[in-house]
Amino acid sequence: MLGPVPFNHNNHYHSLLLRQVPAGARRALDVGCGTGAFARRLAARGIDVDAVDPSAEVIRSARQQPLPPNAGAVHYQQADATQVDLPEGHYDVISCLASLHHMPFDTVSRFRAALSPGGVLLVLGCFREEWPTDAPMTLLAVPANAVMRVATWAKEQATRPQRTVKAPVSAADMTLREIRSSAAELLPGNTIRRLLFWRYLLVFRNNAGR
Ligand SMILES: C[S@@+](CC[C@H](N)C(=O)[O-])C[C@H]1O[C@@H](n2cnc3c(N)ncnc32)[C@H](O)[C@@H]1O
Repeated sequence: MLGPVPFNHNNHYHSLLLRQVPAGARRALDVGCGTGAFARRLAARGIDVDAVDPSAEVIRSARQQPLPPNAGAVHYQQADATQVDLPEGHYDVISCLASLHHMPFDTVSRFRAALSPGGVLLVLGCFREEWPTDAPMTLLAVPANAVMRVATWAKEQATRPQRTVKAPVSAADMTLREIRSSAAELLPGNTIRRLLFWRYLLVFRNNAGR
């Protein structure tokens, strides 16, 4: 029997996200960090990371996870990203993994203002599926997801990774079309790509002041 969903769609895209991180990045903000898996991947590159999440439970769990040697620091903070003070022009990377849909979409304007010149906003986003537009990709994703679940389950039998608490989830209410339209207004020059496993990747580079 397969246990509870071992294949994590967000973690699956960590390497793709890390490829968008500008060379020489020193400061990052991870929004809705959950138990901190991506914050630690950024820190492993020597980046100092502020990692925020309003859930006390996930922040407690994140603080218990070890960092690799020579990693940057990770400062976990229990906070709401729509309210917390964000320093202007400060972060070389701001990442939101499956968290933006928990907030009003225009929170991206706060993140844009907090980007350093040349800084990048990376959103691995969830969206509400529209039919029939999204059907072809979903039809491909369902069998691929089943294969990935089996492969992940098999790997976990060998490695027995430590389980962490589950971060809060919620259903997305914006379609990809609505997200593209709002992003065009708030983050001019952004790119959005639909990914296979029910996610999109939004990349916005702050070219202002360069
Ligand atoms: C689906 S989880 C994703 C967690 C993590 N980024 C990951 O990839 O596993 C969404 C996270 O967003 C957080 N969240 C919800 N509202 C938020 C807000 N206003 N500010 C920051 N984080 C928020 C939730 O507490 C939750 O941990």
